[in-house]
Amino acid sequence: MNEKLQRFITEKIPVIDDRLNSMLAASNVSESLKSSMTYSINAGGKRIRPLLVLATLEDLGALTEDALTVACAVELVHTYSLIHDDLPCMDDDDFRRGKPTNHIVYGEAVAVLAGDALQALAFGSLTHLQETSALDALRIIRLLADASGATGMVGGQVLDIEGETKKLSLSELETVHINKTGALLSFCIEAGAILAGLDEEKSAELKRFAYNIGLAFQIQDDILDITSTTEELGKTVGSDATSDKSTYPSLLGLEGAVERLEEHHQFAKESIAFLEAEHPMLGLFADYIVNRKS
Ligand code: IPE
Ligand code: IPE
Ligand code: MG
Ligand code: MG
Ligand code: MG
Repeated sequence: MNEKLQRFITEKIPVIDDRLNSMLAASNVSESLKSSMTYSINAGGKRIRPLLVLATLEDLGALTEDALTVACAVELVHTYSLIHDDLPCMDDDDFRRGKPTNHIVYGEAVAVLAGDALQALAFGSLTHLQETSALDALRIIRLLADASGATGMVGGQVLDIEGETKKLSLSELETVHINKTGALLSFCIEAGAILAGLDEEKSAELKRFAYNIGLAFQIQDDILDITSTTEELGKTVGSDATSDKSTYPSLLGLEGAVERLEEHHQFAKESIAFLEAEHPMLGLFADYIVNRKS
């Protein structure tokens, strides 16, 4: 990994972890629920989404305390989405982030409820933004609702499941990826642009960046499901093939998927040419997303 990005990640991850854990500690809840929520939050996620929020603001020279709140809110939604994604009624996976999945440890009922509670905690936390205007706070909350719900992640998950019983076209598959994965990743960057008060033209460029890394991220996830090992990935490889899921490699072949990945990587890099830093953090992130091995 690039040294500048590595330094940024090493510095920011403990800050994100501390905030997430203090959010969980503050809630006065039953032990099993709290333990289930804490288990998945601390299971070893890469924290890509919160880091992307912080990287956007770093590049825009506007890193504030509110950025951390937004960063943690999206990680809470992401973690909830993974707990539900692994359930027997969905991908039925037993292994994630190198550990047994939440429902394997806590049972399905508590796992479902832990996911629900993490989502509620995320939205609640956004009502505590300090330096952001009420109007911008509402814009961010609406953006997260759209990115998480039927028009975003949840909608994409439904299309993804439907893709198990029929072969999707490439454009249908693109819609799945943009919704189930791209929407939350885009939120990170778009919310960053709102917090920084970025103008419309530059926000549109960042949106294009987000769209392309969102697609690239899920294409690489699909590729790793075939090319990686369970040890390296921390989640069961071959899960997509087992459920006969439509993926980029299943539609385009492995080489075709890699070509697509590289195209979206290039588009992403082009759309942040306006950033002033010589090596913007977002560009380094785009490189990391396409080259990551887990
Ligand atoms: C996995 O996301 C789920 C997808 C959207 C493909 P990550 O690869 O960011 O998962 P963690 O948080 O690092 O485990
Ligand atoms: C999940 O996609 C995306 C979510 C909205 C959680 P995948 O099902 O491909 O994610 P993994 O491979 O289980 O992490
Ligand atoms: Mg899935
Ligand atoms: Mg899955
Ligand atoms: Mg996957």
